[in-house]
Amino acid sequence: PAITFIHSDGKSDRVEASDGESAMQAATRHGLDGILAECGGNAMCATCHVYVDDAWLARLPDIADDEDALLDGTASERRPNSRLSCQIHLTPVLDGLVLRLPERQV
Ligand code: FES
Repeated sequence: PAITFIHSDGKSDRVEASDGESAMQAATRHGLDGILAECGGNAMCATCHVYVDDAWLARLPDIADDEDALLDGTASERRPNSRLSCQIHLTPVLDGLVLRLPERQV
């Protein structure tokens, strides 16, 4: 599944993810700026924060309690469409997913 990341300056990068891979893993594997992922995907750091495009929000699984708690501590403001990209696992139905990157992760 392909993911489009839109940077805070409006530039975008399209990244090809493998099935089951997290959006964070796909981003870091491609060396994308804007996702730090300090904890390596364990839902402990909140430096993989993204804003999910509204068209895709309803297609994602619900936020788990640990993700919800961490999202309260993001460096850029939490919004209703905030998620941790390490908790978004790609499946064929998410092909074309659009994620916006916050201004900062720390
Ligand atoms: Fe640390 Fe997602 S990589 S919370």
